Amino acid sequence: MLNKKNPVILAIETSCDETSAAVLEGEGNLRSSVVSSQVEIHAEYGGVVPEIAARQHTENINIIIEEALIEAGIGFGDLSAVAVTVGPGLIIALLIGMSTAKAVSYALDVPLIGVNHIEGHIYAGFFEKPDLEFPFLSLVISGGHTSLIVVNGHGGYKTVGSTLDDAAGEAFDKVAKFLGLEYPGGPVIDKLASKGDPGYYKLPRPMIEHKGYDFSFSGLKTAVINLIRKERSDGFEIRLEDLAASFQQAVIDVLVDKTFKALKTFSLERLVVAGGVASNKALRERFSNECAKQDIELVIPRQEFCTDNAAMIAKSAYYKFMKNEFLPYDAEVKSVLSL
Ligand code: KG4
Ligand code: ZN
Repeated sequence: MLNKKNPVILAIETSCDETSAAVLEGEGNLRSSVVSSQVEIHAEYGGVVPEIAARQHTENINIIIEEALIEAGIGFGDLSAVAVTVGPGLIIALLIGMSTAKAVSYALDVPLIGVNHIEGHIYAGFFEKPDLEFPFLSLVISGGHTSLIVVNGHGGYKTVGSTLDDAAGEAFDKVAKFLGLEYPGGPVIDKLASKGDPGYYKLPRPMIEHKGYDFSFSGLKTAVINLIRKERSDGFEIRLEDLAASFQQAVIDVLVDKTFKALKTFSLERLVVAGGVASNKALRERFSNECAKQDIELVIPRQEFCTDNAAMIAKSAYYKFMKNEFLPYDAEVKSVLSL
């Protein structure tokens, strides 16, 4: 018999460079959330190396799960289900999480639940506002994704816009790399930008004139690189803080513009901004000010739930558990997976 009153779900997330496990009891009692980041290891290479990520996941996953259970004060026997990220992400990284989740689920004879990583990011919003009502718009901005999604109910998604090339986080990472800054670039640029003048360098706002809700950040990245080259060849020093602020402002302007256009077109009054880039300080402030002005209810997860974590996977899995949406044991992970 499934415990539908107060299920205890163990969730596992290994889609990129964070090995994470969390235990959620019922709809909202997050009993533990453990995240082990590999950032320092990949920083040496200027980006995530899939083989190294997979090896790290393999070394860490059992320890992280054990930590999550200890922190939650439970044993394997207390679990009602095991949830895991099925994609999108690095295939060999996803595989470690999936095979571990299958093993635990099979050994305990409890259901296996699959969660889309993007869906997980959206559900991080429910930790911030458990009584968030549908429908709402979600802007998911991470290292791999930039999407505008209309969410009509649990599991009811309609993607109305996405990036045509680089994701927002990817643009932060690439610009930082070109400037010789460390990986990941987002937090570094965020910090530098707080001391810079966002109007100092003139940069394009790609796609802002286009109808529709798609994004493109590759041109902005190229514009920054060209600007750096030109300034240097003209004998000028790059004003790093001003450049970080100007680039960040361009990204935020486009994200805000498209998001508010979509809110208007689809007559939505609630917005969830999620994913790693949503931990950006200036972006949070800007969305918060614009939403206050336009009477939009805004939910942005706290920073630790913006970047990759298993707690968000557990949250989404809870609603699947209640609907008996389980995975068979021959389920596969997918590097590309739409909502
Ligand atoms: O959601 P996430 O942890 O992983 C993916 O699903 O991709 O997002 C990671 C991305 C990276 O590109 C990183 O540079 C960016 O989020 N990021 C930030 C900040 N913190 C992380 N971007 C801008 N400002 C930040 N403070
Ligand atoms: Zn993510």
